[in-house]
Amino acid sequence: MQSGAVVRTVNLVKIYQTGGLPVPAVRGVDLEVADGEFVAIMGPSGSGKSTLIHMIGGLDTRTSGEIWLDGQRADTLSESGWAVLRREKVGFVFQFFNLVATMTVADNVELPALLGGASARQARERREYLLGELGLTERAEAAPAQLSGGEQQRVALARALANQPRLLLADEPTGNLDSRNGRDVLRLLRDIHEKGQTIIVVTHDAKVAGMADRVVMLLDGQIVDDGRSVRRTSSKRPGGAGDVIELRG
Ligand SMILES: Nc1ncnc2c1ncn2[C@@H]1O[C@H](COP(=O)(O)OP(=O)(O)OP(=O)(O)O)[C@@H](O)[C@H]1O
Ligand SMILES: [Mg+2]
Repeated sequence: MQSGAVVRTVNLVKIYQTGGLPVPAVRGVDLEVADGEFVAIMGPSGSGKSTLIHMIGGLDTRTSGEIWLDGQRADTLSESGWAVLRREKVGFVFQFFNLVATMTVADNVELPALLGGASARQARERREYLLGELGLTERAEAAPAQLSGGEQQRVALARALANQPRLLLADEPTGNLDSRNGRDVLRLLRDIHEKGQTIIVVTHDAKVAGMADRVVMLLDGQIVDDGRSVRRTSSKRPGGAGDVIELRG
C-alpha cells in the first residue's frame, strides 16, 4: 500500500443482525487517509458514520472487507492483537464518552500514556499541556461525575491525545459543547493538526468540517463524495474519471 497512508479500508462492510434481520450499516467503503491528513466524515443520522470509525479503531468487527492501519493489515488481527495496535496507534473520542468513573480527571488523562510506556513525568507533562489547552486545569482533581457533559467531552479528547497517537478518531467531539468550549476543542484540533496529527472526525458541525482538509459524505452506508474529485496518479496529470483511486505506489 502507499507508504503515506495511515488508514486504508477496502470494500468495508458492516451488517448488524438484529433479531435475525440484517441491518446493513456500512456498505462497501473504500477510504484512504494520508499521513497528517484531517478528514471530516459527515452525513445524516444513521448513515453509518459511528459504525465506520468504530471499525477503523477496532472497536467493532467488520462483516467483510479490509482495514489497514499504518501499513499493517488490522481486520484479521485477534482481539488482543487489536488491543495492542489500538493502544500504540489510536486515540479515540467516543460519541458517548467513556471516562473511568473512579479516577480523577488527571488520572483519566494520564492513564493511556502510562499504559503506552511513558514515564510518570512525561505523562504528567502531557496531561498538564492538554488540560491547559482545553481550559480544564482547575478540574484536574475532580471526578468525572462532578463535571458537566461538555467538560467530560473535553477530558475525553485530552485522554485520546495523551499517548500522541498516530491516528485520532473522534465521534462528534464538539457535540455537547457550547460555543466557547467548542472553540477550545477546535483550537486544540487545529493545533495538533498543524503539528502533523492525522485526524478522522465525525461531525455535524460546519466549523469542524471547515477546518478539515477533506470532507467525506456518507449516505446509507456508502461514500457519496470523498472530497477528492481529482485524483493524483504519481506524476501523471489528473485524469477525468473521478471514481478511480490510484494512489498505490
Ligand atoms: N449495535 C447495533 N446493532 C444493530 N444496528 C445498529 C447498531 N449500531 C448501529 N446500528 C444501525 O446501523 C446504522 C448506522 O448507525 P450508526 O450509529 O453508524 O449511524 P451514525 O451515522 O453514526 O448516526 P448518528 O449521526 O445518529 O450518530 C443505523 O441504521 C443503526 O440503527
Ligand atoms: Mg453516530
